Amino acid sequence: MAELNLAVIGGDGIGPEVTEQALRVLRKVLGSRVITLTETEYDLGARRWHKTGETLTDADIDALRDHDAILLGAIGDPSVPSGILERELLLRLRFSLDHYVNLRPSILYPGVPSPLANPDEIDFVVVREGTEGLYCGNGGAVRVGTEHEIATEVSVNTAFGVRRLVRYAFELAMTREHKHVTLVHKHNVLVHAGHLWRRTVEEIGAEYPEVTTDYLHIDAATIFLVTEPSRFDVIVTDNLFGDIITDEAGAITGGVGLAASANLNPDGAAPSMFEPVHGSAPDIAGENVADPIAAIASTVLLLRYVGQAEAAEDVQRAISAHMTMRAEAAAAGDPYRVTTTGVGDDVLSVL
Ligand code: IPM
Ligand code: MN
Repeated sequence: MAELNLAVIGGDGIGPEVTEQALRVLRKVLGSRVITLTETEYDLGARRWHKTGETLTDADIDALRDHDAILLGAIGDPSVPSGILERELLLRLRFSLDHYVNLRPSILYPGVPSPLANPDEIDFVVVREGTEGLYCGNGGAVRVGTEHEIATEVSVNTAFGVRRLVRYAFELAMTREHKHVTLVHKHNVLVHAGHLWRRTVEEIGAEYPEVTTDYLHIDAATIFLVTEPSRFDVIVTDNLFGDIITDEAGAITGGVGLAASANLNPDGAAPSMFEPVHGSAPDIAGENVADPIAAIASTVLLLRYVGQAEAAEDVQRAISAHMTMRAEAAAAGDPYRVTTTGVGDDVLSVL
């Protein structure tokens, strides 16, 4: 690879600040490998919406398709009515670029404080479906505002969509030490979708005899995530359950400020998109206090995806070294003070 043609969407709130630190890391790690990083900024988010009324145009999507990957900061702003930027921008990106795998690794770095008393080793990946489920906007409301209002949101689960995701989860499990897949759903209540997911895991699982599997209802899974997180290796689940448990997974591993994610189009038919799990945190935007580790960790997933595995491991090592430094400072009674640019400086200095 001689060039990485990157689309950059800083977005709202703390998005642009944390993205800038991720870009510094990418510039350095690619520069030292003589790979040209071409950055194209896209003005998407609250500011553009206020100025033009546009969220994401067809022309934007076409332009984004021409890149190798997309780096995204955060989308969402309290000055825009809830749902507009989320549905018409972020989810539209995931849907139109067919990001059917929403990959969210959870790692507890040594010495990082977890709210769990006895977290043990936490190292699992949530493979969240990204293009179906309750996120399709399939539903409606009648007699709105009356006592007789009826609102529905219907979850869409296709055999095609579930199969391709479940296959990805098993392939991923094959690359990991524990080779274990946990299906999380609620098939005792959501019988139609639940049984499609269960059957699919059984069928595809039969092709992977080395991979062990188990099943948890979503409510039980939220318990085990806090009582026994070390039991998880690869979790495969639908869009909404995956959304909920990845926030919980972020919390138990030191906060969503550390959690990275990838919206993957594994077939390469459209560019994949890399973003922190956290949101735009408008309350702290512009104050240089947001932790950019989640954004920087998203570049690890990006680099792996574009075939730069060594560069990815370099960045991962730098993040781990940085987190060890934070843990040592805390242990010495002199807690590390996070500033957005300071964390960027520190990660770059060990890179
Ligand atoms: C996430 C976010 C989004 C989601 C919102 C902002 C639409 O919570 O990336 O987890 O629900 O997927
Ligand atoms: Mn979420």
